[in-house]
Amino acid sequence: MSSEPIEKHPIPDGFANAHITPESYRRLYDESISDPDGFWGREGKRLDWITPYTKVKNTDFTFGDVSIKWFEDGELNVAANCVDRHLATRADQTAIIFEPDDPKAEAQHITYAQLSENVNRLANVLKDLGVKKGDRVVIYLPMIPEAAYAMLACARLGAIHSIVFAGFSPDALASRVIDCGAKLVITADTAPRGGRRTGLKSNADIALAQTGPEVKCLVVRHTGDDVAWNDDRDIDMKALMAKASTDCPPEPMNAEDTLFILYTSGSTGKPKGVVHTTGGYLVFAAITHQYVFDYHDGDVFWCTADVGWVTGHSYIIYGPLANGATTLMFEGVPTWPDAGRFWDVCDKHKVTQFYTAPTAIRALMGKGPEFVDGHDLSSLRLLGSVGEPINPEAWNWYNEHVGKGRCPIVDTWWQTETGGHLITPLPGAIETKAGSATLPFFGVKPEVLEPETAKVVAGNPAEGVLCIADSWPGQMRTVWGDHQRFMETYFQQYPGYYFTGDGCRRDEDGYYWITGRVDDVINVSGHRMGTAEVESALVAHDKVAEAAVVGYPHSLKGQGIYAYVTLMNGIEPTEELRSELEKWVRNEIGPIAKPDLIQWAPGMPKTRSGKIMRRILRKIAENDYGSLGDISTLAEPEVVDDLIANRMNRG
Ligand code: WTA
Repeated sequence: MSSEPIEKHPIPDGFANAHITPESYRRLYDESISDPDGFWGREGKRLDWITPYTKVKNTDFTFGDVSIKWFEDGELNVAANCVDRHLATRADQTAIIFEPDDPKAEAQHITYAQLSENVNRLANVLKDLGVKKGDRVVIYLPMIPEAAYAMLACARLGAIHSIVFAGFSPDALASRVIDCGAKLVITADTAPRGGRRTGLKSNADIALAQTGPEVKCLVVRHTGDDVAWNDDRDIDMKALMAKASTDCPPEPMNAEDTLFILYTSGSTGKPKGVVHTTGGYLVFAAITHQYVFDYHDGDVFWCTADVGWVTGHSYIIYGPLANGATTLMFEGVPTWPDAGRFWDVCDKHKVTQFYTAPTAIRALMGKGPEFVDGHDLSSLRLLGSVGEPINPEAWNWYNEHVGKGRCPIVDTWWQTETGGHLITPLPGAIETKAGSATLPFFGVKPEVLEPETAKVVAGNPAEGVLCIADSWPGQMRTVWGDHQRFMETYFQQYPGYYFTGDGCRRDEDGYYWITGRVDDVINVSGHRMGTAEVESALVAHDKVAEAAVVGYPHSLKGQGIYAYVTLMNGIEPTEELRSELEKWVRNEIGPIAKPDLIQWAPGMPKTRSGKIMRRILRKIAENDYGSLGDISTLAEPEVVDDLIANRMNRG
């Protein structure tokens, strides 16, 4: 570990009046750890409760008995908190700015009053279709305001939404609809992105052919493109909304009732349905949005994530709207019509906080600073980063060219499972270092453990796996339909802790540096991918006998997907087959899962008991084959020479 001191960036001028200062951070952090009931009991009051809670924290991390409950006897409604309660003071304030894909199309400013009207109408449409409290609704939509209406309409009725990223394939959509037992899928005709259109309805048609006739399909006519129509199943959403009443009373929900399910990749098996509940999740999304981004009235907050990922849930919709904020929804991509689009949008809407992913920063950095420099970015006060470790070059470029050295960068570390930020700078309280997520948020107690012994590494510096010692309100509660899997994934390996799956080091100042996943999950452009998922897609092809997938460093994507493929006997490896397999994986999972490199592997390095030695495959994929360690335990050590000789990454 390097002991070079890394330059600290001081708290910028203008953050002296931030919500949280260095002094209040220390004091409140200590309180949140020593007296979580006191701290969260007070913070819970930032929401409106129908029945106030009398209990705050009731959580147990013991393997076999894991149970997580917050505010468990309180009742509230998320839509009432994100919409209704703002109407008295903010009816005419913009809740959502919608910036369409086409830069020439007009942006929409949706006020809280209009948001309320649309959410109520859609809730009534859903209710008329028989959707009730506890039912599941899958949302497969582009980044359009209807996605927000759909989430909030479900919340209003107490229905559970599960958003499937619009970039996922029909098969991926079908398996999620089936796993959560959804009654209804909400989709759109086509989705414009970067000037091209994806047929979402046509994807949904293929998916719904696999799920059975009882699943209905509500279709947003967004672009007006012609789509196939099944009168027994398909329903025009806007037509029904136009006729629906604007009054739908919010359903009182217990704090621990499920708000949403979001599927995410793990190291084994199929993606799991992460369950988030009502009270704790919303408190945590709201407090982190306010403090981490130092949100104040009048700010314009822009998170560039897609609502199909947890970042979109917590920081486009729930956190900002719970705080009565103005949140920007962008339908397009950073590089179309050119690499200045993000900065155009910041300038046009006078964005004050801008939150994006390192992969986007690296892509824009590669296009040159001239795409940034011509824009007026003086409205920006703060920048954020999420999704993967941000390399210092990207951090410095972001700081210099976008933030002009004036804006703090909050590098927020968190996960689908955590609901909101766990380790992050607070802009008025914590000095930053390029590449470090810095210090824990309130109520979060990180520990570094030795991977093999599960012993806590005390003192600084420290290096090991990152675990969290106690619960926070935004924590996932279970895996949908499989509590055992929840316990085994997160609480078994390191007893008494929540295991994050990430490695980290803690430096001399106690700052955390996330080093990436220590399990078989890879992070491609900030998207989580289970290597097992890509492998099972590959072996489903009839010419593939065996496949092993690992990550390797990729200059733009963070990690790329490297697949070793053993073909069936007698099948010739050809370039055509390589593209066929790439296309196959795109179709099975989605474009984000397409392997970057496929190496034909006549054999895999296996132990005598038949287990693939992934460590070796990772090293070869990283082009670091000089240090393979002991390979004498392999059944056929000579396969390694062939793999090295034909390696694909020589960079
Ligand atoms: C990684 C996204 C370093 C990490 C919110 C984590 C990060 C996984 C950061 C979760 C960050 C996320 N620095 N790594 N600031 N943020 N990660 O569930 O490996 O899509 O475990 O949630 O992304 O990805 P997920």
